[in-house]
Amino acid sequence: RWLMCCLSAASMKSQAYFNKTGELPCHFTNSQNISLDELVVFWQDQDKLVLYELYRGKENPQNVHRKYKGRTSFDKDNWTLRLHNIQIKDKGLYQCFVHHKGPKGLVPMHQMNSDLSVLANFSQPEIMVTSNRTENSGIINLTCSSIQGYPEPKEMYFLVKTENSSTKYDTVMKKSQNNVTELYNVSISLSFSVPEASNVSIFCVLQLESMKLPSLPYNIGKAASQDYFFLRYHETERSDEAQCVNISKTASGDNSTTQF
Ligand SMILES: *[C@@H]1O[C@H](CO)[C@@H](O)[C@H](O)[C@H]1NC(C)=O
Ligand SMILES: *[C@@H]1O[C@H](CO)[C@@H](O)[C@H](O)[C@H]1NC(C)=O
Ligand SMILES: *[C@@H]1O[C@H](CO)[C@@H](O)[C@H](O)[C@H]1NC(C)=O
Ligand SMILES: *[C@@H]1O[C@H](CO)[C@@H](O)[C@H](O)[C@H]1NC(C)=O
Ligand SMILES: *[C@@H]1O[C@H](CO)[C@@H](O)[C@H](O)[C@H]1NC(C)=O
Ligand SMILES: *[C@@H]1O[C@H](CO)[C@@H](O)[C@H](O)[C@H]1NC(C)=O
Ligand SMILES: *[C@@H]1O[C@H](CO)[C@@H](O)[C@H](O)[C@H]1NC(C)=O
Ligand SMILES: *[C@@H]1O[C@H](CO)[C@@H](O)[C@H](O)[C@H]1NC(C)=O
Ligand SMILES: *[C@@H]1O[C@H](CO)[C@@H](O)[C@H](O)[C@H]1NC(C)=O
Ligand SMILES: *[C@@H]1O[C@H](CO)[C@@H](O)[C@H](O)[C@H]1NC(C)=O
Ligand SMILES: *[C@@H]1O[C@H](CO)[C@@H](O)[C@H](O)[C@H]1NC(C)=O
Ligand SMILES: *[C@@H]1O[C@H](CO)[C@@H](O)[C@H](O)[C@H]1NC(C)=O
Repeated sequence: RWLMCCLSAASMKSQAYFNKTGELPCHFTNSQNISLDELVVFWQDQDKLVLYELYRGKENPQNVHRKYKGRTSFDKDNWTLRLHNIQIKDKGLYQCFVHHKGPKGLVPMHQMNSDLSVLANFSQPEIMVTSNRTENSGIINLTCSSIQGYPEPKEMYFLVKTENSSTKYDTVMKKSQNNVTELYNVSISLSFSVPEASNVSIFCVLQLESMKLPSLPYNIGKAASQDYFFLRYHETERSDEAQCVNISKTASGDNSTTQF
């Protein structure tokens, strides 16, 4: 009489931010309106450790693995389990099971898989001068860094803009990963020969999965050092549905529109 449910379980993707709350949906409709008193509901991770169990309407902490104790809350209205204080290690596959507890024992009724990915937003890249240019060298050394993000960025580069040109400088991205949180810090360095008598704006761009995260400009030249530019950052890669990044700094002075 019960549905043949679990042969091809539905699966869906879910996304959560580091140190925030994630959602693990079950999408159980209970079309037969079975009372919770007759149901056994639980979630388990890919190692079959139990996150939460609702046994005939009552929470049963007995089977819950200690790594999930006190980290979950069940939303009865939409059959979703919330997992709090998400860590990078929490990414992976989860399963929700609903069983009917009938006279003949447990009968599987519903199963739902969710694939949880975990993100952490990198800080806005920041350019620092590690050695200033001198009268005779004209070389400036810059480092750009961005911290506490996940997953690993695709690339990071400097973009040097003059009045007429825009040049991309690829350099080796240094990365370090925290061994507890698993978050990444990344940085790049550039030794740049400043062209004489021109205005230059240097940007640092962090290329993530689906968006570019630019730094504020480091400006060299007459226009630059005193006045801030009024900047509009535009995302140019329309092909991959990239998100727009929009940082404006208002002040007196020029307007300049910058594209990455
Ligand atoms: C997690 O968030 C709390 C506040 O929401 C904050 O105090 C704490 O520093 C954060 N932890 C990490 C590792 O970012
Ligand atoms: C469940 O309901 C809460 C609010 O009650 C909502 O924030 C959340 O997005 C819902 N989750 C799903 C998977 O529908
Ligand atoms: C489901 O059952 C409860 C009582 O068990 C009843 O109050 C409710 O109206 C029923 N809902 C539906 C949609 O049949
Ligand atoms: C991370 O960045 C995205 C896109 O910029 C934003 O929508 C989201 O709210 C940010 N999340 C956190 C936790 O900062
Ligand atoms: C670098 O030198 C310029 C002048 O050439 C000066 O205005 C600027 O403050 C110096 N920056 C640092 C970080 O020393
Ligand atoms: C600037 O960087 C270059 C290349 O890494 C290095 O050879 C040079 O010594 C640096 N200059 C100063 C003044 O530190
Ligand atoms: C930029 O281009 C204009 C016109 O093509 C030219 O007059 C100017 O000298 C160029 N500026 C630089 C810094 O190359
Ligand atoms: C990442 O940067 C933060 C802030 O500068 C620092 O506290 C942390 O130790 C760095 N982590 C790693 C793994 O380098
Ligand atoms: C993390 O790395 C630090 C030094 O890099 C080390 O002292 C510490 O024991 C490591 N912690 C773990 C949990 O591996
Ligand atoms: C740099 O910008 C200033 C102010 O906009 C301008 O007066 C000057 O001619 C520019 N210099 C060059 C070389 O383009
Ligand atoms: C960028 O920011 C400005 C001012 O805050 C706003 O008017 C504009 O709509 C934003 N553009 C995008 C693409 O978010
Ligand atoms: C900068 O742009 C704003 C609006 O986009 C305009 O009102 C203002 O006059 C411009 N300033 C200059 C110096 O061009």
